[in-house]
Amino acid sequence: MCGIFGCFVKNRAVAPLILAGLKRLEYRGYDSCGVATVYEGVLYIKKGVGEIDKVHAELHLDDLPGEIGIGHTRWATHGAPTKENAHPHVDCEGKIAVVHNGIIENFLELKRELEAKGHVFRSKTDTEVVPHLIEEFMKEGFSFKEAVIKAVKRLRGSFALAIIYTGFEGMVCVKMESPLVLGVGDDGIYVASDIPAFLPYTNIIIQLEDGDVVFIELENFTIYNIIKGREVKRRSRVIDWTPDMAEKGGYAHFMLKEIHEQPKCLKNTLRLEMRYLTKMADLLCSADEAFMIACGTSYHACLAGSYIMAKLAKKAVHPVVASEFIENYGKLVDHRFVLLAVSQSGETADTLKAAEYGLRRGATILGITNVLGSKLTRIARVYVCQQSGPEIGVAATKTYTAQLSVLTQLSILMAERRGKIGHRESEELWEWMHTMPNIVGSVIKATERDVIKIADKYVNVKKSAFIGSGINLATALEGRLKLLEIAYIPSIAMSGLKESTVSCLNGDSMAVFICPFSDPERERLLDEACMARDHGLNVIILTEEEADEAEEVADETIKLPIPPDMPKVLTPLPFIIPLQLFAYYMSVKRGLNPDKPRNLAKSVTVE
Ligand code: M6R
Repeated sequence: MCGIFGCFVKNRAVAPLILAGLKRLEYRGYDSCGVATVYEGVLYIKKGVGEIDKVHAELHLDDLPGEIGIGHTRWATHGAPTKENAHPHVDCEGKIAVVHNGIIENFLELKRELEAKGHVFRSKTDTEVVPHLIEEFMKEGFSFKEAVIKAVKRLRGSFALAIIYTGFEGMVCVKMESPLVLGVGDDGIYVASDIPAFLPYTNIIIQLEDGDVVFIELENFTIYNIIKGREVKRRSRVIDWTPDMAEKGGYAHFMLKEIHEQPKCLKNTLRLEMRYLTKMADLLCSADEAFMIACGTSYHACLAGSYIMAKLAKKAVHPVVASEFIENYGKLVDHRFVLLAVSQSGETADTLKAAEYGLRRGATILGITNVLGSKLTRIARVYVCQQSGPEIGVAATKTYTAQLSVLTQLSILMAERRGKIGHRESEELWEWMHTMPNIVGSVIKATERDVIKIADKYVNVKKSAFIGSGINLATALEGRLKLLEIAYIPSIAMSGLKESTVSCLNGDSMAVFICPFSDPERERLLDEACMARDHGLNVIILTEEEADEAEEVADETIKLPIPPDMPKVLTPLPFIIPLQLFAYYMSVKRGLNPDKPRNLAKSVTVE
């Protein structure tokens, strides 16, 4: 997730507006930034590494001539945060500049093709193919506008683009799956990834749709949709958001926004560069000893991942809380070991310490992280960036499901390589993964209202227990961590509820059971739910829509609209959603701020 901003204004210098707009988009990415303007047929660019204030202090980003310009604040997805990789990117002649948010899936293929035609690339980004592709079509004789459309038709993936060209008195922007909004003001037209960028100048917006290519010329713009193959009209609307609401996309908190971003983030995990994931799968498969090390939520993802690897690939990859690793396993480590470190931030001290220790003893270090350029990416021999964009809420939500998705894909690849699943099963699993973003989207939609009601009813609960068996022990642990972390409700998580535990709980307590159909322990879990209810506990059961028998033993059932034949190894993905929502609403209803739990800062280990 990056932030892009472009404007075409009348009788005003555009660069100071872009700088201010980028500052308001900084929550979308902050590892590097840049601005480009066109003035009297010349392209001006400034870009650098670091947060906007730092780059501005060095380069004076507001000091560029012209009334047309684009800007970018980056959260790296392809290529580390370096000056070369910072946006805007240009063509060979430095006449076309492009900023981009999203992932161009086929960039390698396009890059090779363009290099063969003599184009010289300066960065490692996927974005740079765009200006070169436009340049190439123009060389073939197409006008700038035609060349943009031709180029966009060659791109696969998700992209929001803003493009300027020295020979065009205006700006072009493109939307495909990544967000892009137009702002129509009295004295200018704006385009941005999010509304806050231009909110001080106009509250008249146009939400663009996939396939839209907008040609912005002074006081006028036209929209051509490449999917429909014709010009289209889009309706404008007036919004009455405050800047704070706009930053959170209209949600009350970043945590809620991030919960709702999960379908999109899961889609991004399906666009990872397979060559790295495959390399990782090979290294894990050939390791004599394999461990996963992580903290907190990332550890829960590893716990689930380890079940999936064992089930599908028949390979033991042991999950260990990073702070426990050196003391308990350190002396065993040598070159035969592969350590997969999983860390959203890539900077958690315990995880890095364990990984560095392993590296010193000759182990191969692999990494899964959300932050390109983080220390983990520098230690790991192979790493994968999970592409979730910055997570501003302290409670990890979208990064957890993205980690689960990456680990599941890794497990499927391992299973294929070890010959442990047949062609048919593998195809089915990939199909499930590709429908997962929609499944998760419908779970959010279907369960949020029920969760709000349940949170209302149980807002004063004193203790809670989360129960999930097998792979959903990870779900129980993660549901418990969320509630503990942001609603401060003492909670435990287990794979089974025994009478001894029930006796420590009472009428002020609740027991949350995770009961997918595919769970071989489902009956046992329902029996335990019955027992808990007999002892006066409030029982909540999470299950699929068709499960009527659960209603007989529960005070509340949260029914997930997922196909009952979903393989058990995939159930942690949808089943965590209602628990994230539950923790969020419990926190809000208890008058707390879920984005900023007390005593916790981002990247602090809580377990
Ligand atoms: O950045 P990491 O994934 O390494 O962080 C690990 C934990 O600190 C993190 O998951 C923490 O537990 C979250 N705040 C939980 O919501």
